[in-house]
Amino acid sequence: MSPKNDKRPSYSQIETGSERSRPLLHQNAREIQPYGKIAKLPIALDEKVCAESAENLNQILADTITIRDLYKKHHWQVAGHTFYQLHLLFDKHYGEQNELVDTIAERIQSLGAISLAMAPDIAETTSIPRPPRGREEVPVQLSRLLEAHEIILKEARTMARLADEGGDDGTNDLLVSEIIRTNELQVWFLAEHLVDVPVVRADETKSAAAAR
Ligand SMILES: [Fe+2]
Repeated sequence: MSPKNDKRPSYSQIETGSERSRPLLHQNAREIQPYGKIAKLPIALDEKVCAESAENLNQILADTITIRDLYKKHHWQVAGHTFYQLHLLFDKHYGEQNELVDTIAERIQSLGAISLAMAPDIAETTSIPRPPRGREEVPVQLSRLLEAHEIILKEARTMARLADEGGDDGTNDLLVSEIIRTNELQVWFLAEHLVDVPVVRADETKSAAAAR
């Protein structure tokens, strides 16, 4: 642009008339609903039942987020001759657990409660033991996952019964139809990798010993 044509408007001229479109930044206020409190929704369920279900579901949520992340850890760190199949299987289970995370969190919100979300809160709440940061052998990875699944299954069964007793059919259905069934199926897929069978040549000595 030649200096002759340089008739650029000043900043104030540029901004005039755009005030209502400007984002209002750096805002702060008290939260509108503290964690642990219920904002009752018209779902024909007693507030106490909603509160109990939400508390239980937040426990399951923290454990589901943890097992989901454990799957991703193992997806990245798996080693050995079964690398490729386990790399894929771990990521498949990660995806299924990730879907459960969203379903559980949205159930909690549907009950008028607040779902946990952030990593430090999940770490404080989960019942699943923290793994080391480093890489572990495949049998250890599998055992660790199976133990985590069993923690979830045990608490899910208890919580399903409590939800049923309170008349919270939606929570009972989520626990039974989605959480328990998904975790049981994933246990089967993992546990079969820990059966000590030969890869190429049948072990006749073990077969003979078992027959005696
Ligand atoms: Fe990946």
